[in-house]
Amino acid sequence: MIKGAIPLKIAGIGYSVPSTVVTNDDLTKLYETSDEWIYTRTGIRERRLVSGNETAIDLGETASRDAIEKAGLNPDELDMIIAASSTPVEMYSMSCCIQKRLGVTKPIPAFDISAACSGLIYGLSIARGLIASGMYKNILIVATDNNSKHLDWSDRGTSILFGDGAGAVVVTASKDGTDDIIALDIQADGKQGGLIELHFDGDNCPLVKPNDKREPKIQMNGKGVYTFVVKLLPNYVDELIKNAGLKSENIDYMVPHQANIRIIRAVQERIGISDEKVITNLEYYGNTSAASIPIALVEGVRNGQMKLNSNVLLCGFGAGMTWGGAIVRLREGIC
Ligand code: UT7
Repeated sequence: MIKGAIPLKIAGIGYSVPSTVVTNDDLTKLYETSDEWIYTRTGIRERRLVSGNETAIDLGETASRDAIEKAGLNPDELDMIIAASSTPVEMYSMSCCIQKRLGVTKPIPAFDISAACSGLIYGLSIARGLIASGMYKNILIVATDNNSKHLDWSDRGTSILFGDGAGAVVVTASKDGTDDIIALDIQADGKQGGLIELHFDGDNCPLVKPNDKREPKIQMNGKGVYTFVVKLLPNYVDELIKNAGLKSENIDYMVPHQANIRIIRAVQERIGISDEKVITNLEYYGNTSAASIPIALVEGVRNGQMKLNSNVLLCGFGAGMTWGGAIVRLREGIC
């Protein structure tokens, strides 16, 4: 940490998923596939999807309320909201919609970031800098995605993977001098952007030459993503631990982005930690993008798999391509 920087406390974490379950067997009504194919390749059995008029804003609101309550704050004590979403319902600020829903009466800054599935770690990094500088004290980071609205439901290579959900983290200026962030790093490589794309081209003005149209749906080169990430992420996470002056035995738990169980196992093998220390729930939720890490984290604690007062490694990757990792300290009572 930079000398004089204000340390950060992770004060509360919450999540929300839709109640509607769509199983692998259900997907066989859409295209030729099987539970066995999907589960073997990905580790996913079912996912939660928004239904009717439910959106990522509803999920984001519920997750935020959960995190704010655990932080022991009321919404008017927040002084910034950062929403991470790569499948927004409102391009003009999901964070402002959530600010309104939470009933925040003050004109606190609210803005969105994307960074796709790395959005939560990117948001944490931004919040860390703003808290360290003393500019802000209580920041809500809410990661919320309704991927199901942006998938091509005839593309069996991509649509099997994703689910909808939201996770939220409230971070505050630490009053006891302890920094809950032991290490934090974010990276990107735009040259790999073609691996996962979601175009929002729009239409040129009718008075000028029309633009080419591209399908506004998530398009993914699954094998390309897999190969890129399996080569990159295990070494990256290993370096993150070493650069923090730690060894894998200092990591109590790993909460990875829930994209594919085979990618998770590759990272786990590289750093050499046992299955009980690795939190996975993609079997039930699929890949919920930026929400996947906080959802797994809260569930890991609430179902007793993770003990608090522990060092937890978070790591993720997503479209862009973006990736990031953090080693954080989880205090009692945060979720
Ligand atoms: O946050 C976003 C992160 N994204 C990821 O993490 C994606 C990482 N990649 C993956 O998880 C895998 O690449 C997939 C699970 C998406 C695909 O697995 P794969 O082993 O790479 O399959 P493939 O795309 O190479 O396809 C193999 C075969 C093809 O048939 P042929 O050409 O060999 O006859 C596909 O048509 O499997 C077929 N296939 C399917 N079969 C049954 C593709 N999707 C399906 C399906 N059910 N759902």
